[in-house]
Amino acid sequence: MKKILVTGGLGYIGSHTVVELQSAGYEVLIIDNLSNSSEAVLEGIERITGVLPVFEKLDLRDKKATISFFQRHDTIDGIIHFAASKAVGESVENPLLYYENNLSTLITVLQQIQHKKNSAFIFSSSCTVYGQAEQMPISEAAPIKEAFSPYGNTKQIGEEILKDTAKVVSGLQVISLRYFNPIGAHSSAEIGELPNGVPQNLVPFITQTAIGLRKELAVFGNDYPTEDGTCIRDYIHVVDLAKAHVTALQRLLNKENEATFEVFNIGTGTGSSVLEVIQSFERVSGQKLNYKIVGRREGDVISAYADTTKANTILGWKAISTLDEAMLSAWKWEQKIRKTNQIKTS
Ligand code: NAD
Ligand code: WQD
Repeated sequence: MKKILVTGGLGYIGSHTVVELQSAGYEVLIIDNLSNSSEAVLEGIERITGVLPVFEKLDLRDKKATISFFQRHDTIDGIIHFAASKAVGESVENPLLYYENNLSTLITVLQQIQHKKNSAFIFSSSCTVYGQAEQMPISEAAPIKEAFSPYGNTKQIGEEILKDTAKVVSGLQVISLRYFNPIGAHSSAEIGELPNGVPQNLVPFITQTAIGLRKELAVFGNDYPTEDGTCIRDYIHVVDLAKAHVTALQRLLNKENEATFEVFNIGTGTGSSVLEVIQSFERVSGQKLNYKIVGRREGDVISAYADTTKANTILGWKAISTLDEAMLSAWKWEQKIRKTNQIKTS
């Protein structure tokens, strides 16, 4: 059985990926410092797959502890590196926190594997690297724009670090997945997104409003040059995104090609406006959402959706869930966590 290390494996995308890895027959080791997740996620994973993954609470900024971890686990076949901080606004206020947590941890992990014969490495990148692309849908060939935030910058620099390192470390092969907007939760509602405090992202804000935790959703601008005036994004079901990691890992482990560094867009290929997301929510929940139109949010791009041809053809992966299915899963998860009172909301 191949052994895969998942850093940040108790987080939102990480936990869904652990489920898909276990279901595909991989043995999973999780590292997480619980800075944005909870150990209870392990039980959700076990309830879905019947397998409790090995978990080590470890902060990857702690170099000594990380070195010791890799000494104790010297038979890891692949790494999926999710661990990072991801709040764009916070990164503007505290850039060093982001450069340290997102880049020094990446470097430390790479240092531990550089002497191994073979290493498969998957990096969590983001469509944020494209900024406002000139052409829609966005292909991997689109230029990388100057980052709007330190967070976005860590994804650009992270990719550069990986590209340069994989060029010289023999046996290291890297795939960087540029996620568009992940939403939703596992259909079992055993795991899902656990935003800390007031959600910054659209979908958790919608579900928290509908459940009564927030008074109303503020829609940031309806004067954009789009059909209904609101911004357009490519919302991808988190389970589809999780499955993309398994497919990418298989490509690396099977040595399907010789490239040392590849990037793939991971999205649905379809853009949806903010109002379309609200309508989808209303359709699947059977309830009206309280919202008002307010001014634009600084830094928002008008439109971003993926050309997924490369992932479809080379990885053989395709998103299958509809927006309605993803919204329904997000809604089921919201209702479940409110019943069990799992998260901090203020
Ligand atoms: P998340 O915060 O839910 O998960 C990240 C996990 O990493 C958390 O469990 C956190 O506790 C852990 N972590 C953070 N710093 C750590 C450290 N120093 N040591 C050990 N563990 C640490 O975030 P997510 O939404 O699951 O995102 C996962 C990855 O995908 C991140 O790299 C993020 O930047 C990237 N990404 C996310 C999105 C999105 O919209 N959610 C979009 C594009 C890219
Ligand atoms: C989606 C749309 C908002 C909240 C961010 C990061 C990006 C990536 C994903 C990691 C936009 C609108 C939102 C609200 C609203 N993360 N909106 N009211 O901005 O595409 O991307 O998360 O890499 O780096 O920047 O996602 O969910 O915040 O916003 O009207 O209360 O919803 O203006 O059009 P975004 P989002």
